[in-house]
Amino acid sequence: MAVLRMDAAFGVEGSPIRARRTPVKSTGVAEPSAGAAESTRGVTRPEVEVFGLEAQLAALVSSPDPAHVKLSKLEQLHAAQCPHCLTASGHTQLVFGEGSPTADLMFIGEAPGETEDSVGRPFVGRAGQKLDEMIKAMGLAREGVYIANVLKSRPPENRTPLPLEVARCGPTLAGQIAIIKPRCIVTLGGPATKLVLQTEVGITKLRGSWARWAPPAWLVGAEPVDVMPTFHPAYLLRNYTAQTRAEVWSDLKQVMGRIGR
Ligand code: URA
Repeated sequence: MAVLRMDAAFGVEGSPIRARRTPVKSTGVAEPSAGAAESTRGVTRPEVEVFGLEAQLAALVSSPDPAHVKLSKLEQLHAAQCPHCLTASGHTQLVFGEGSPTADLMFIGEAPGETEDSVGRPFVGRAGQKLDEMIKAMGLAREGVYIANVLKSRPPENRTPLPLEVARCGPTLAGQIAIIKPRCIVTLGGPATKLVLQTEVGITKLRGSWARWAPPAWLVGAEPVDVMPTFHPAYLLRNYTAQTRAEVWSDLKQVMGRIGR
């Protein structure tokens, strides 16, 4: 029902997402383009082993936790020393992620941009405004979902994350997923989708079809989570066509069906 009402309310076949009024500065999210994201092949073997995070993260993952326990585990994870963020340069602060620790739905983006870096929160710039509109159109509140990025530190000049950066920061994201245990994940754009699904296939091919996050073997006790890949809101802003909007909205409607909205 909610889906039908939303479609009707916005009077479009596809997206309820409002038209852009001002030109959008590129966030450095390049998609969909072959080879835009660096391959993670060869470096995905968890560097947590080297940096000793493996045991810490695995200890944070256990079966059903009430909200306050999940929150406390997320705080511990936030405080854990991410090997990437410890050595990264070009950022001013970590952008760990935010939202409900018991969220049914988790959105995963690529990396903080300039605004996120200065505010310390994910998706608060132009792309974030678009994401907020998407969440609202789904009948949800931003506070009711969880929003995180693959990288917790802004890459210099907003460049696409490097494979080694993803390999080093990725375990923190895996920990977030395993603690929150959402019913489903929406990956935003190519780089996030590639990491979460451990694939080299581009976002244009993957979007709109359900896939699954498989927890890494070292994250003992973590469960798989359904994943819906869709375009990054920054890409949507740059390609604000009826087709792109309809595609994103169609992806989000599938997610709404899955979480019972
Ligand atoms: N783009 C992202 O991928 N993440 C953010 O937090 C902001 C912009």
